[in-house]
Amino acid sequence: MAKATITFEDINVTVTVPAGTRVIEVSEKVGSGITYGCREGDCGTCIMKVSSGWNHLTEPSVLEDKVLRENMAGKHNRLACQAQVLGGQISVKPV
Ligand code: FES
Repeated sequence: MAKATITFEDINVTVTVPAGTRVIEVSEKVGSGITYGCREGDCGTCIMKVSSGWNHLTEPSVLEDKVLRENMAGKHNRLACQAQVLGGQISVKPV
């Protein structure tokens, strides 16, 4: 199975995970400050900044795009409960 690496910049922790893992699944385990509410892509609580590796994430769904817009999220923001890492290396931090 393909692997991916996620670095949580706020706590300086890097974790290797199976491809397809949602960022939120790891962030809560390692204690990153990326918080969450619904875990369904609806509340916008889990907005994170993707500092690098943007292209290693799944494309945002229509719902994620809508929630990001409603929360006036920046260009490099994603929902941690929706973004799945496909491989390679990404770096994220709480917004
Ligand atoms: S936890 Fe609600 S949108 Fe991610």
